[in-house]
Amino acid sequence: MRKKIVAGNWKMNLSAEEAMALANELKQKIDHQLDTGGPRQNGALPRILLFPPYVYLSGLIEVFRNYEGLSIGVQNIYQEEKGAYTGEVSPLMVRSMGGTHTLIGHSERRMHFNEDDELLAKKTALALKNGLIPVYCCGEMLPERETGKHFQVVAEQLKKGVFWMKEEEAGNIIIAYEPVWAIGTGQTASPDQAQEMHAYIRQLIADQYSNKMADRMTILYGGSCNAKNAAELFAKEDVDGGLIGGASLKADDFFRIIQSF
Ligand code: PGA
Repeated sequence: MRKKIVAGNWKMNLSAEEAMALANELKQKIDHQLDTGGPRQNGALPRILLFPPYVYLSGLIEVFRNYEGLSIGVQNIYQEEKGAYTGEVSPLMVRSMGGTHTLIGHSERRMHFNEDDELLAKKTALALKNGLIPVYCCGEMLPERETGKHFQVVAEQLKKGVFWMKEEEAGNIIIAYEPVWAIGTGQTASPDQAQEMHAYIRQLIADQYSNKMADRMTILYGGSCNAKNAAELFAKEDVDGGLIGGASLKADDFFRIIQSF
């Protein structure tokens, strides 16, 4: 069975104090859930991924040191392992600190930093080489959806960014479908729209690789997913969880999303 995952992308938010407070609040909720049991007792929580800003990476790793079901990652990596690239952070550095995942190709990186699929392919390969699991983001813009090009756009992004890899490599990647028009706008994709695209992506994986791999790969939905709509989205067959932005900044909301399976 494929992994259920709820991931929080904190983006460029929170002071150090706020970040640690949020992490500790979340930790308390997880402890309470695991201690008190209930229908989601012990290990039945989905896997949780947190993507704080780089500067809080070691703090969060410390807070969640013995939590097997929770991993810490970064929102971006540079496409080289080391060298004269002032201001950048490499996957090797992240891995050596205990980070395990990295977002790749979030639409904000594509938009504000001009990251294209060729560059993202390089980052994905380097992340894997250094033992980081990439969460590869794809998704169409509003005009693309309105003109019926959304399937084509997503297929192209995956083809250039992921599908050139061998099955053994690509099988380690988590895919996040994030329609750009839904990110931070409060305009969530409907559960049917999400399911339709997720099923399409799964079929692409089956065509490119195998049914077995398509069955195994986790595909997350992102874009204004919140405590109110998460359950409906996660109930869809091909939606394996969420990549949560705004709602991951409040422990209560994020934990309600975690409990939405
Ligand atoms: P949002 O962001 O939940 O605030 O829409 C999602 C994302 O950008 O990953």
